[in-house]
Amino acid sequence: MFITFEGSDGSGKTTQVQLLAEYLRQAGRSVLKTREPGGTRISDGVRQLLLDLAHTEMHARAETLLFNAARAQLVAEVIRPALAEGTVVLCDRFADSTLAYQGYGHQQEIAEMARMIEYATGGLRPDLTVFLDLPPWEGLRRNRSQGNGKWNRLDAQELSFHQRVVAGYRKLIAREPQRWVEIDASQPREQVHQDVVRAVEKRLAVFAPAP
Ligand code: TYD
Repeated sequence: MFITFEGSDGSGKTTQVQLLAEYLRQAGRSVLKTREPGGTRISDGVRQLLLDLAHTEMHARAETLLFNAARAQLVAEVIRPALAEGTVVLCDRFADSTLAYQGYGHQQEIAEMARMIEYATGGLRPDLTVFLDLPPWEGLRRNRSQGNGKWNRLDAQELSFHQRVVAGYRKLIAREPQRWVEIDASQPREQVHQDVVRAVEKRLAVFAPAP
């Protein structure tokens, strides 16, 4: 089963993916945790290009292609082989991030984005996508106040960009409500985790009953 996490920057995805991975492993599941952009040697190289604060001239089309190049490598090298072995794959961001950020955020043609994603993933889609819901200004505030070097080129967009991203996620959810679960990410970390576990258990019971 393939589970992805989406949400605005600073919504706590990385922490929640980690907590869920620990929970599922304790429950005896084989789990693989990865993230986008990254997760392979080649994809991590592309990540460096994408996040570098010096790359202010990067064109939106180049950005979209690079995200999809990193994704194609991750799907082929890591995600598909793991799924084939029955491993539960958890991915911190996936194709919906490209639709939300490059599509709705940078206002590029959504149908074109979707075709590019189809090519990059060979049609692989998540079985469940967890949306960690947080107002964009709250996520930006959390990231900035951490001051731990997490600040990158893509975070350095204006608030209106991040608002378009969140509105974009809402459209994606409305289009495919059965694939998504929305969780209030402004709650305490442990409560968010409980909500994530409940949603995942419900879906696992259908897709991959316990061993
Ligand atoms: P990262 O530090 O991993 O952010 P986060 O902690 O929010 O996950 O940086 C990833 C950034 O890349 C984030 O701002 C979202 C952006 N992104 C896109 O714009 N398009 C994409 O397809 C993906 C996967 C990420």
